[in-house]
Amino acid sequence: MTKFKKDFLLGAATAAHQVEGNNIYSDYWAQEQLEHSVFDEPSLDAVDHYNRYEEDIKLMAKAGLNTYRFSIEWARIQPTADSWEQKEIEHYKNVIACCKKYNIEPMVTLHHFSSPKWLISEGGWENPNVVERFVYYSKRLIAEIGSELKYVCTINEANMRLQLTALIKDMMNRIMKGSEKKIHTSDVQVGVNLVAENMKLNAIETAQAFGIQDPKKVFPFISQCTPEGDLIVMKAHEACRDAIKELFPNLKVGLTLSLHDFQAVEGGESYVEKEWDDEFVHYLPYIKNDDFLGVQCYSKKVYGPEGSIAPDENEPLTQMGYPDYPVAIVNVTRKVHEMFKGELIITENGIATDNDERRCEFIEEATTGIQKCIEDGIPVNGFMYWSLLDNFEWQKGYKMTFGLIGVDRTNQSRHPKKSLDYLGSLLEK
Ligand code: GCO
Repeated sequence: MTKFKKDFLLGAATAAHQVEGNNIYSDYWAQEQLEHSVFDEPSLDAVDHYNRYEEDIKLMAKAGLNTYRFSIEWARIQPTADSWEQKEIEHYKNVIACCKKYNIEPMVTLHHFSSPKWLISEGGWENPNVVERFVYYSKRLIAEIGSELKYVCTINEANMRLQLTALIKDMMNRIMKGSEKKIHTSDVQVGVNLVAENMKLNAIETAQAFGIQDPKKVFPFISQCTPEGDLIVMKAHEACRDAIKELFPNLKVGLTLSLHDFQAVEGGESYVEKEWDDEFVHYLPYIKNDDFLGVQCYSKKVYGPEGSIAPDENEPLTQMGYPDYPVAIVNVTRKVHEMFKGELIITENGIATDNDERRCEFIEEATTGIQKCIEDGIPVNGFMYWSLLDNFEWQKGYKMTFGLIGVDRTNQSRHPKKSLDYLGSLLEK
């Protein structure tokens, strides 16, 4: 197959909480420890990437990748609202220096789902104050590391809160109507468990953990949001972007969105239009001045006259329960380009499977399609496979294996899969 040009950003992605381990000051850690937690298991040591990052970066470089997208853990840097842990800044400086040592371009995400616990206690992502908090953290951090970077993602999947809100609303409606049709947690591209049992106890314990009286007023990033809360995230993004550009005008700043390849069978067209508007179109005013957009897509979602249609019995599914459908990222990239003419980076795409041959095929199909997009003039400048390592898939724990590198968590040993070399082979040398 044709290869990506040498300067194309070809790499893999991780998020701090999913790989580093012992992120004890974060809201996730607090929620994982509850007696009636909705998490299948707690993150604990994760895959000890905090200590083993050099081994992991070296493996990427050896396979021929040239970019590593990773996130910085806000809760490590500000474990309390008025603290600033310089030693953690040094840690991330070391990670960046390590990337450079192995000729890997570091692409940093400032917020990837997890937040400091204290931030949630003060009202989380529904409190307008979060904008100021986020800008303070981002600006002070970027002042230290910005000179070493070319790309920064402000907020990962800035639209995830809205997607979850719609999903939960849909689930509630169906419960109220006694509908037979079950809601699929696979309708959302992130590991969540929408289980009815223990939800009430979980809500009470969660509120207690954050010192909040009303369980309905707890707003971590992965929670329901109001329309105002949806816009607060956009304000945080814009303010952060502007603050970074003041410091480093040439640093490229953008956010990432979780996008689905929505498809309609007859009668489903209006659903598709509404979903695409919610998921993408209504954010355009807030990202139009960005330097790039991070496109993240894993699968398709089909709509008919009654709304979303569950995958057909014969449809192959990934471990996440949604269709194994590598063309989704290609369709979404084309659709995004119709309205957003700027630079695109595929900041996440991948498959959860224990069959690495299938992972190679999935990557081949997705990247071949992306190369066609480039040939057609769509400015796609990078592709980050999710994920570098098998890791903590949020509420679904460690069962989902997305990684190019397997990890034996009994001793944290690394086991590169064939797909790691395969992905690396797609870059011109
Ligand atoms: C995401 C998430 C990742 C998930 C991945 C697989 O951005 O959705 O960033 O954290 O692990 O999508 O579900």
